[in-house]
Amino acid sequence: MRSQVVIIGGGPSGLLLGQLLHRQGIEAVVLERKTRDYVLGRIRAGVLETGLVRLMEEAGVADRLHREGYVHDGTQIAWEGGMFHIDFKQLTGTPVVVYGQTEVTRDLYDAREAAGARTIFQVDDVVIHDADGDRPYVTYTSAGQGHRIDCDFVAGCDGFHGISRQTIPLDVRREYEKTYPFGWLGILSETPPVHEELIYANSDRGFALCSMRNANLSRYYIQCALSDHTSDWTDAAFWDELRRRLPADVAERLVTGPSIEKSIAPLRSFVTEPMRWGRLFLCGDAAHIVPPTGAKGLNTAASDVQYLYNGLVQYYRDKDSEGIDRYSERALLRVWKAERFSWWFSGLLHRYPHQSPFDLKMQKADIAFLRDNESQQRAFAENYVGLPY
Ligand code: FAD
Ligand code: DHB
Repeated sequence: MRSQVVIIGGGPSGLLLGQLLHRQGIEAVVLERKTRDYVLGRIRAGVLETGLVRLMEEAGVADRLHREGYVHDGTQIAWEGGMFHIDFKQLTGTPVVVYGQTEVTRDLYDAREAAGARTIFQVDDVVIHDADGDRPYVTYTSAGQGHRIDCDFVAGCDGFHGISRQTIPLDVRREYEKTYPFGWLGILSETPPVHEELIYANSDRGFALCSMRNANLSRYYIQCALSDHTSDWTDAAFWDELRRRLPADVAERLVTGPSIEKSIAPLRSFVTEPMRWGRLFLCGDAAHIVPPTGAKGLNTAASDVQYLYNGLVQYYRDKDSEGIDRYSERALLRVWKAERFSWWFSGLLHRYPHQSPFDLKMQKADIAFLRDNESQQRAFAENYVGLPY
């Protein structure tokens, strides 16, 4: 088989890139290790920057997002028993949209199917060959049979545990990593959200986040120990702990119910450089991870997709390789800014095991500065709604 581009990974990065390329008449096969239902069963990000919304529009898949997504003009920061508001719309002119990654992925799968674009599920043993030469190819097995696809380019969109990054030789690849001494325990429940905006809470007992998917679907997170398992947390224990971390009036309004999903995610900052090796390009979690505080993971994947998409269109349409040659440099410049924001915002809101009384005072001063200083609020808002591509 032959395809102009082979995309490894059918998560949001791979699907979005595939759909954008398809609309430009560039053929791209997507290889996904799991089934469609498995991918759609993963509950992940919930807040979309305008940049991602624009890309969904360009990919022709934004109708449902515009119908069902919730436009949020600001967010709440809870601290010391109260809350303050940061008004994105007033500070930057731009809101964010609450619409789950699951829905983004579903819309993209549906569009691929409708367009007759090829997605091959349940592939194993994917190997990228000759990425540093002129004629790369990808081999994989499916239902026990070996296959080969020859191509011009490979997009490695296979997430943090994928094989694409590992294909880049160690003497070329440089990795930067920070792990955090806690995780996030998240639940989804069919209950109305406690507040119309998201609430990011700093409390003596650790971080909490009140988010949502729709008027009767709430997503809540609390900071937990890395050694915790979901089985350690009954729903009642989760709700009790969440209430303790919220201002009393908010806790009182919290509507609880059975969880329909419960998971623990470790927190990590990670970047690999470069994001291109020959004809292989890394996109999204395959190249970088942010701690989830600030919802930058999916949005940073989207900005990579935009740079690569533009570069590939420039290559095929104008016979100009400038965009793909500068892909890694452009993507990394924005990636590191998202890494900085997510790292800073995580530091602002979590309890760390060895925080000294001085460290705690610095954290308090940092939050007070954000509450009281408009320039700081504007810088926060610009990062939260998404830095320009
Ligand atoms: P992924 O979504 O990881 O997709 C990669 C795809 O590649 C997967 O479908 C995988 O099955 C497939 N794949 C892997 N290996 C292979 C292979 N060898 N061959 C073929 N296919 C392969 N971000 C936020 O902003 N907010 C959040 O609350 C949030 N929560 C998260 C919770 C968890 C547990 C995780 C892991 C991430 C979370 N993120 C969150 C981050 C966000 O979901 C990611 O940034 C986003 O999914 C990145 O999309 P991606 O397509 O690059 O990678
Ligand atoms: C969600 C996750 C985040 O990491 C975040 O900062 C905001 C919202 C969510 O899953 O809804």
